[in-house]
Amino acid sequence: MSADEPQALEQEALAAIEQAADERALDEVRVRYLGKKGALSVQMKGLGKLPPEERKARGQVLNALRQKLEQAIAERRAALQAEALQKQLAAERVDVTLPARPERQGRVHPVSHVWEEVVEIFADLGFSVAEGPHIETDWYNFEALNIPPSHPARQEHDTFYFHANEQGERKLLRTHTSPVQIHTMESQQPPIRIIAPGRTFRCDSDQTHTPMFHQVEALVIDRDITMGHLKWTLEEFCKAFFETDNVKMRFRASHFPFTEPSMEVDINCTWEGGQVKVGEGDDWLEILGSGMVHPNVLKAGGLNPDEWQGFAFGIGIDRLAMLKYGIPDLRAFFDTDIRWLKHYGFTALQIPTLSGGLSA
Ligand code: PHE
Repeated sequence: MSADEPQALEQEALAAIEQAADERALDEVRVRYLGKKGALSVQMKGLGKLPPEERKARGQVLNALRQKLEQAIAERRAALQAEALQKQLAAERVDVTLPARPERQGRVHPVSHVWEEVVEIFADLGFSVAEGPHIETDWYNFEALNIPPSHPARQEHDTFYFHANEQGERKLLRTHTSPVQIHTMESQQPPIRIIAPGRTFRCDSDQTHTPMFHQVEALVIDRDITMGHLKWTLEEFCKAFFETDNVKMRFRASHFPFTEPSMEVDINCTWEGGQVKVGEGDDWLEILGSGMVHPNVLKAGGLNPDEWQGFAFGIGIDRLAMLKYGIPDLRAFFDTDIRWLKHYGFTALQIPTLSGGLSA
């Protein structure tokens, strides 16, 4: 029996399929038997030369054979793919129980750590976390916050502007987290109790200022909210954050266009020996701005000021980190110096909790 006979062809092809060691070899086998010039196709072409009575029967045999071979190839392909996957999985296996190599041990940046501490404290007080975009429109960053185009407060913000778009609109990098107040009023009905930690940007750089820094905004809106609620919240926060009842806070009358009345809060500290320490000495470092939400801001957020009141504040997260962990220069925060990070950073398992200790 020669391979010209369907039966012999079948045996030969099936054996070749079985032996194909990878997908490429299998493809060669497919072409050899089923391709345009393949063995089976040659036999198909030969049908024309057969007498009509044999042609039909032979045609059926060959068609059945084609189906059988196609199926065998598909099965072999699936088996080869499964095998390859198993091999790859075995080769790429990672033993997650191995300890990290010493040079790969990362640290959690103090800003990230303090961010988590702040979230933990306010979550405990019943606040939820809100977010807003870094790239803002003039409306959200200024106008809705009661800072019209000619307002002098705009100069104080050292704003980074983008080029104007086709509509003549100049987007900007948000200079504070206060725009999240407006986004929140738009998306939520009062009572509102949120904090919004995030990045903020101003064209400013010295020992206590960096062009990118972090703030956490807080916004509370309800009926009958007073300065008393604001002051209590700030005191509770400071005690929890500095993990002592001894923090001295100074409430200073101030001005922000989006709050009325407004006050700034300083924390007492000392800078002796290049180290900052909280609760000692007679220096003060400003850590936050606060006040009662201005009626115009409530209106811009779609709320009726006769019905709703609120307080808001914005805290500098980086400042908090400097004070709590005695880090003298803010610029070093963003130098990505691994030695600095090893010294001031936290290990991954030092997750701040109120029960377990924030800085533990
Ligand atoms: N947005 C103000 C700032 O960046 C801080 C602030 C927030 C003041 C909320 C009052 C109320 O300086």
